[in-house]
Amino acid sequence: MNKESQINELKKSTEKWLSVAIDEHIENIIKDDIEGLRNCLRFHENRYYVQNDPLISDYEYDTLYKLLDKFEKQHPAFITGDSPTQRVGAGLIKDFPKVQHLVPMLSLENSYNADDLHDWDRKARELSDLPLIEYCVEPKFDGASISLLYDDDIFTRGATRGDGETGDDITLNIKQIKSVPLSASFSNYGIQQIEIRGEVLMNKQNFKKYNDTLIEEGIPPLANPRNAAAGSLRIKDTAIVSKRNLEAFLYHVSYFTTGNKGDRVPSTHSAMLEMLWSLGFRSPEKEMKVVKGIDAVIEHVNQYESKRDDLPYEIDGMVIKVNDIQLQDKLGMTSHHPRWAIAFKFKARQATSKLISVSYQVGRTGAVTPVAKIEPVQVGGVTVSSISIHNEEYIKEKDLKLGDTILIERSGDVIPQIVKSLSELRNGTEQNIVFPKTCPVCGDELYKSEDEAVWRCININCEAQVVERIIHFVSKDAMDIRSFGEANVRKFFEMGLIKDIPGVYTLDFEKIKEMEGFGEKSISNLQQAIEKSKNQPLHRLIYALGIRYVGETTAKTLAQSISGIHDLAAYNIEELQQLDDVGVKVAGSIREFFHNNDNLQILEKLEKLGLKMKQDKHLPAAGNLSGQTFLFTGTLKQLKRSDAEEQVEANGGKIVAGVSSKLNYLVVGEDAGSKLEKAKKIPAIKIISEEEFLKMIPT
Ligand code: IVH
Repeated sequence: MNKESQINELKKSTEKWLSVAIDEHIENIIKDDIEGLRNCLRFHENRYYVQNDPLISDYEYDTLYKLLDKFEKQHPAFITGDSPTQRVGAGLIKDFPKVQHLVPMLSLENSYNADDLHDWDRKARELSDLPLIEYCVEPKFDGASISLLYDDDIFTRGATRGDGETGDDITLNIKQIKSVPLSASFSNYGIQQIEIRGEVLMNKQNFKKYNDTLIEEGIPPLANPRNAAAGSLRIKDTAIVSKRNLEAFLYHVSYFTTGNKGDRVPSTHSAMLEMLWSLGFRSPEKEMKVVKGIDAVIEHVNQYESKRDDLPYEIDGMVIKVNDIQLQDKLGMTSHHPRWAIAFKFKARQATSKLISVSYQVGRTGAVTPVAKIEPVQVGGVTVSSISIHNEEYIKEKDLKLGDTILIERSGDVIPQIVKSLSELRNGTEQNIVFPKTCPVCGDELYKSEDEAVWRCININCEAQVVERIIHFVSKDAMDIRSFGEANVRKFFEMGLIKDIPGVYTLDFEKIKEMEGFGEKSISNLQQAIEKSKNQPLHRLIYALGIRYVGETTAKTLAQSISGIHDLAAYNIEELQQLDDVGVKVAGSIREFFHNNDNLQILEKLEKLGLKMKQDKHLPAAGNLSGQTFLFTGTLKQLKRSDAEEQVEANGGKIVAGVSSKLNYLVVGEDAGSKLEKAKKIPAIKIISEEEFLKMIPT
């Protein structure tokens, strides 16, 4: 069967299984073709995680997955080790046993410019006696390296690099990476056992999200996605590893056995990458380029460097490999690295500088953050002259002293971080950093709770905190009052023109007119921006209020599951915890915020000033109810209940039996009773009228 008809078959089988999932009598169908259902899931995992091109909705995938899971739970004898369900539920890992790599994981020689590459190419040509060599050029992924072992098509072991000879057995954690297939038909190529090397990554978007959650919890963010990936692989709870959304690129076959049918194994590196890709791995098949001669390599790596920032993941260079595997063997290796490959490193995003002094900033939650002034230095295209050193523990952990030479890194668009201090360069004049005991702004004593690493000023009226709260409120990611900005907040505060958040909306523009630097145009811009902000979507207002642990992401999830800000004030801890992504800590913090009179007064004032406090109702486009669940209650005026239910199904939606967190829409007719009352208690359910429902149905 060719590839296209294979895909068509899988699409058909998806439809079959989705309809089976609704059927009550599924037993025998699944028993007969359980592998068909698994292949269907594997196909969609590959489309989603490897090819970035999903064919079905998350909801549909979940439906198929649950179908398989339910069946396997009822019939454990049918479970296979490579079933898509076997990635999860591994639980806690006690210790990572040490394992020996089949082939030592050597590292690569580095090159930094065209001359280095010319030298390397010359040596390769001399040793091979060839005038021009064919090279395969691919990105150098900046993550944590791994090796994977497949025996008779089944994934049997995943390991970290370790010291190159032995690494940690992280099989269970690797199984959490959805782009790594649990089985792959290497036997089609005559391969019995194979060891593959690759890199585990956290993409830039997930890294930013992850760092945001750390910041929300008062934990110093990580310097780069590489540390995030490496750290995640060493977590002993597979459920947490799964949540990190790691990805893996496989880029090198280091060893294989073939029995007596080995003639189908590719003979070039690029064909190996194609083989991996066709077997369902994420290999750099799309990202590689095969070229003849080193000049073409140099042109390509230079071009690729300019694309670096546009990629969804970090790369720190390119790897150039001799494409012909026989020639690779002929070139062999030195004691440190292969002669047939070289890394070309892009411009460093690390630099060294000197730590000159430390000042202490008081944030909107009273947290006192030490900020290091450093000798200005260029890193990744920007000049860095100050850098957060987060908290007292971080200073100890990184062993930072005044006068130290420090290594700093700026990874992508992440705020620069200190990687380490170079203590070997100390000359004895360095001094300890002494954390203050009192607030540098209001002078009150600082406190530190046992479960936190930060010292706080707990004087809620400390001027620094008030100003920071206003700065946060108007900032780009919050209410986005463009022409306001930090400098103006500070200026207006100093002049007594603004004292609290509602003050943003009651500025005395007559006084501002008299101030230097405020012409008519800038005042009118500011007035317009302030006015416009009153209509910002609810999630921005929630974030702007500066509730502890409620960052942008949490604010968005919160806003989606409530109808207005007052819901947050009305819910008790249990109700809050029913909201997506809200755990004990966030729920506690929201509750505390809305039980504080000052905060309630601020909200009241903001409402009176005309700020939008309610969620816009986002109804799906007419006809597109796919993945949405519905339930009708009360007497409908225009439709018969059965017709309404038919309409839902005709447009891809589903009717559910009762009110639960699985319900998306409760359509309420006249005299609705207990269902409505129950739904009101579950914030995620959207309660809509018959008219609103009709708007969702194409006419
Ligand atoms: S090939 C024997 N290809 O870079 C050759 N390595 O400094 C095996 N890396 O240890 C390595 N992307 O962790 C190869 N496309 C790529 C790579 C790559 C990243 C890492 C790998 C290696 C290090 C070398």
